[in-house]
Amino acid sequence: MRREKIGLLFVCLGNICRSPLAENVFRQLARERGVEHRFEIDSAGTSGYHDGDPPDRRTAATARARGLVLTGRSRRLTGADLRRFHYVLAMDAANLAEVERLRAASGGSAVVRRLREWDPDAAELDVPDPYYGGARGFEEVHDMVERSCAALLDELLQDAA
Ligand code: 4NP
Repeated sequence: MRREKIGLLFVCLGNICRSPLAENVFRQLARERGVEHRFEIDSAGTSGYHDGDPPDRRTAATARARGLVLTGRSRRLTGADLRRFHYVLAMDAANLAEVERLRAASGGSAVVRRLREWDPDAAELDVPDPYYGGARGFEEVHDMVERSCAALLDELLQDAA
């Protein structure tokens, strides 16, 4: 049977720290489970501040220490994204509000949620912006993104079974 791919777009502010991490973590988890081909996975930023930039050096170093090489270049979220992807996963409440605002103008039927709604250990639902903080913040962000993506993948595979 041929099934449509499930489209997932991860969204943060700059698209250089949290959302490229989530994109790459989710892809890696799906690859490990032999289901990468069932997903279209991408990320974008609400700001455009870092258009064309590679992932942040500190985010990339934290990921590399755990065996994950980050790929991709920053790009700004568009209205077309909201019509194309099935799930839009925002990192924090501000990103979520921006996505909702854009969708009000662009239309689309994407499920728009915060990624940490899937974090089994979440005390709160934001993946905090690590950009202006220390190294510890990048480790914590990596952990929350990993836990959330694993649970999200589980749920999507169960739904599709
Ligand atoms: P991100 O982190 O939204 O996780 O990519 C940030 C990156 C850059 C900026 C803010 C947050 N900035 O203000 O340039």
